[in-house]
Formats: sequence, C-alpha cells, structure tokens
Amino acid sequence: MGASNYIFSRDEFLDLIVYELYPRSFLDSNGDGIGDLNGIFEKLDYLQELGVNAVWLCPIYKSPNKDNGYDVADYREIAKEFGSFADFKRLRDGLHARGMKLIMDLVFNHTSSEHTWFQQAKTDRNNPYHDYYIWADTPPNDWKSCFGGSAWEYNEATKEYYLHSFAIEQPDLNWENPSVRKECQKIVDFWVQQGVDGFRCDVLDFISKDFKTGKMYAGPRLHEYIHELFGRRETEKLFTVGECQSSDKEMLLIAGKERKELSTVFQFDHINLIGLNKYLPHAFTLEEVKNVLVKWQNFTQENDLIYTLFTDNHDQPYFLSKTGYGDDYRYECATMLATMFYLLRGIPFLYQGQEYGAVNPVYSSIEDFRDVEAMRYYNEHKNTESSKQIVSALNQGGRDNARRPIAWTKNKANAHGFSQETPWIPLHSCAEEINLERDKNAEKSVWEFYRKLLALRKSSTVIRRGSFCDLTENRQGCFLYERALGEKKVIVICNFENRQTLLLPNALQQNTFRLILTNHADTLPFSKDFRPFEIAVYESL
Ligand code: GLC
Ligand code: CA
Repeated sequence: MGASNYIFSRDEFLDLIVYELYPRSFLDSNGDGIGDLNGIFEKLDYLQELGVNAVWLCPIYKSPNKDNGYDVADYREIAKEFGSFADFKRLRDGLHARGMKLIMDLVFNHTSSEHTWFQQAKTDRNNPYHDYYIWADTPPNDWKSCFGGSAWEYNEATKEYYLHSFAIEQPDLNWENPSVRKECQKIVDFWVQQGVDGFRCDVLDFISKDFKTGKMYAGPRLHEYIHELFGRRETEKLFTVGECQSSDKEMLLIAGKERKELSTVFQFDHINLIGLNKYLPHAFTLEEVKNVLVKWQNFTQENDLIYTLFTDNHDQPYFLSKTGYGDDYRYECATMLATMFYLLRGIPFLYQGQEYGAVNPVYSSIEDFRDVEAMRYYNEHKNTESSKQIVSALNQGGRDNARRPIAWTKNKANAHGFSQETPWIPLHSCAEEINLERDKNAEKSVWEFYRKLLALRKSSTVIRRGSFCDLTENRQGCFLYERALGEKKVIVICNFENRQTLLLPNALQQNTFRLILTNHADTLPFSKDFRPFEIAVYESL
C-alpha cells in the first residue's frame, strides 16, 4: 500500500480530473485555525463524490510561510502546522485507496532564506553552498521582483547582492551549478519513492535566466535543465505540469511528446486577458475567452500536445467574479464556465471553492489581508493612495481572494465548519450567503452540476480522448463545439450573457442526438432559445 502507481500512460493523462487544494484553507482538524493534512483526509470521500481523480496539493513542506509555503525551508519535511510525515502517508494511502492520484508542488526556482543551503551560502563567499545561489558585487541589471521592488538584495556578510525573483526571503537557486540540479533530482526521486504520482512545477521557466538579453525567465538553458530533471529513465513517465508563461513555440519544446521534458504546462492566455494591471477592473469578454480557447484547442490538437483546462488557482481572483455574472446569474454563469472549459480536450483542473460557486469577497480593511504580495502593494502605495483605494485594488486583483477558507456549512459557528478557532485569514465576506451546505441544498446547486459534469466526462471516452472542432462559426455571444471519436459525437452549446435565439449546428439532428446535460431544469431538447448562460450538451445516439 502506498507505493507509487505513477506510471500511467500519456493517453491516461487525459483521464485526469485534478482538484487543486490549498491546504491552509481547506479544513482545520485540530483547531489552530490552519487547514491541515488530517482535515484533507476527512474530506477524501467528499472529493471522490465530487468526481475528481487527482489532487494537487499546494506546498506542504517545512516553511516560514513568507509566501505560504512557496518558500521551502526543507524539501523533505512536512510543515508542522500541516501534520506529521505519518499524516502525509495516511493521506497518500487514502487517495490511492480511492483510485486518486497525488500531485505535489515543486518549488525549485528558489528556496526560503531559512533553508540550510542559504543559511550557509550567505555566511562566506567560500562556503560550499555559496554557489547554490546567484550573487553579484553590484546589481548587474534593474530586474524587479515579481512582488515589487528590486530583485537584488544586499547581504552584509559577503558584501554582495543576491537575486530573488519573488520575495526577499525567496533567494533564487543557481541552476548553472550542477550540484543544485543534482539536489533537485534527488528531491524528485525522494517524493516518487514516497508514492507521489506527479508534480506541479512552480514558476519553472524562471530556473534559466537570460543575463545577456536581460530576460528574467525562459533563458537559454531552460530545456536542458528540465530534460535533465525529468527526462531520466526513472522519471520520464511522470505526470508533470509546469507553471510557465508559454508561447506556442515554447509549448512545443517544453511539452512536446518526444521531448521528455514536461507532460504539459498551464497556458495563461485567457487569464492574461485581464491586462497588465490586475488591480484594475477587468474588461475582457467571454467572446475573447472563447477565442483564446479555440486557438489553443486547435494548436494543441494539431501538435499532439496536452492542454490544461483551468479558470482558477491560488494566485487568481475567482474567474467567476471576473466575468461579471451580475447578481442574478451566479449559478448559471458558474455552471456555464465549467461546461465551456471542462468538456474541452485536455486536463481539467478545478480550484477549491469553484464547486460551490465561490466568488471574490469584498473587504474594507488591510487587516483582512495576508498575502506577501498584498502587503508589498500596501507599503508601496500607502503614501500616495487612501487605504480605501488600496483595499479596493486588492479586492479586485489580490491573491487572497481565492485563499480564504472553504465555507463548509451555512451555520456561522466554527468559521462555517472550517475551524474551531479563528482562521488564519478571515473567511469570505459572503460566506453566509455562499457556502457549500447552502449550495448543496439549493434548487440550483453548482455542486450538483459539477458532479454531473465530471461524471459525464468520466463516462465519456469521446470527451476525454476525442478530437475538438469549433462549431461557433459567425454566431455571436456563444461557444459551440464538437468532440468526436470514431462515429461518436458530443456537441456542446454555451450561451453567454445575453438571451438569444441561436441557429443550431447542422450536425445536430433530432433523430441522431439526444440532450444529456443542461443547467436549467426545463430546457427543451433542440430548443433554439437560450437564456443567459444557458448550456446544452448533446450526444450522438
Ligand atoms: C508561483 C506560485 C505563487 C508563488 C510564486 C513564487 O507563481 O503559484 O503562489 O508566490 O510562484 O513561488
Ligand atoms: Ca490545523
């Protein structure tokens, strides 16, 4: 029991339905206000009932939590607040016993400044670990940290600067150093031996910098490094998904079938529609989202690549909020988005909270925020903007939006079922209205819809393995597509916000298709009239 069953084929990757889980905010089992591994263990049946078959755990390693675990102090130890190594094994076995895969987060661009490597490295230029990090006598460029401020930080003991692409407490590892690469390989192997089935690789394109052209990421040795890390005989079959900002050319290299680099990457074009300043109100349309999806469906299909289907993650405000569903259509919009994304060709990734239609909270005080990036934003703007302005920017674009605890119950007591104690971060401001229990019992339940949708995907080889074809043509305000495998077809119709009469696709014949899924109780088969965010999914007989 417990041994890895990680060897599954590339085709089988398309059978995955992954749930991204933010352990800190999932369920607190011991009343310290922090979600933990035993909390997750308690909810394994819940996850199975939802219909996912893999869980990606955001980092659970020992960490001072400057960046909630994305600053790792020991890659082989479980953070105390999350539990013990025995708890980890119990969770792993619980997942495997239910036929679910375990995907761990690997943070290899940087360590925590409290990692022993850095503790040693910073003491002396001659320390054997010094070269594990990136140093300069004076900053060689004006690179900015992704969280704001210079990416170079002075270190008194060696009279040098070190590079940190993220927080000051997250020094970048020097991948030019073969010892660093070896250490990372050993960490991968360690977790594979612990029965882990795959990895999500944090900001992986940052591991190679381009000092010549001054680009902080996707440097000249990126592919060599990834190939060396995962292209080995022991690891080439692993499921790996990289967080990389990838163009189509990059994706061919990094996720190409024969390349032995990654299984797939997260492609962010639809997320990037929000524009360069995420703190401003978003102005993108669903039409634009559709265009991005079609482009990538076609590209990944033509090139035999695996695409990832996601709307949300722990760094993003809820996509549902970004699309402006209005007050009346939260259920309809949530279920339409789920249909639009998760019946496409690729691997669905759900983020916790989506399954009950969670939306962004609205807070009025900086005290309600925790994220390192938010704190940085606050400090940089507090002299020029009112706290009201700052907080409203954070409500719009901050990362805490999706990091608030799951509201399990409708009763306010015990932080809506999340914890016996005060949670590490306040719950969603709207938890009384939007919570799992209420949603489950509602006539229009997002949760029930997700269950049906995921069950459909699980039961349909056409949806999992079939080809994609856009059928939208010149219809406006909607997305129509077909999935096909041999003679079998599935046709998906997603209407956007406006009520309208749609010309049904020619292929959709009454005598050869049947309606298999809608998000309204009273949708008439083959009806052309679509209400706001109404969907209809048909299957060939
Ligand atoms: C990734 C993570 C994010 C983290 C950053 C630095 O973008 O998703 O949460 O802050 O990398 O590790
Ligand atoms: Ca706890």
